[in-house]
Amino acid sequence: MIYLKREMDKNKTGHTRRDFIKRFTIWAAVFAGFMASISLLRQFVPRLTRYQKRFKIGRKNNFPVNTFTFLADRKLFIYRDHEGIRAVSAVCTHLGCIIEKSDEGFQCPCHGSRYNKDGEVISGAAVKDLPWYSLHKDVDGQIVVDQGRLVDPDQKLYL
Ligand code: FES
Repeated sequence: MIYLKREMDKNKTGHTRRDFIKRFTIWAAVFAGFMASISLLRQFVPRLTRYQKRFKIGRKNNFPVNTFTFLADRKLFIYRDHEGIRAVSAVCTHLGCIIEKSDEGFQCPCHGSRYNKDGEVISGAAVKDLPWYSLHKDVDGQIVVDQGRLVDPDQKLYL
């Protein structure tokens, strides 16, 4: 009786409904395993991203003393004085325009936000201060910016 029922379930290609359900279950398990693997691997993505936020900007002599040097490709201002060097973001904290140097510090050409020399908001649409980034010297003597680590405005890499 069971044999007859199974024979009746076969379609034109000779597959039964049971075969279909078995294959479907196997493929669903494979898919679920694949998705679980992806979510497991995603936990490493922030570390990779952070690693990419470190980059070399050259040696101290690239930066004149008592001057903010704009690095357009990195969207950064590098400030060097007689003691050391610091790095501040050139991206406005309002909507992301590139800020410009001004007499009092920095200003944004988009909506007029103004920051002092420490990157603190003076006026305008921005409400967050500019972030300063950690710096260190690599073994080859080049300065490395780590945009994954924020520091206080007065913290510098002593040279
Ligand atoms: S983007 Fe700078 S003030 Fe709006």
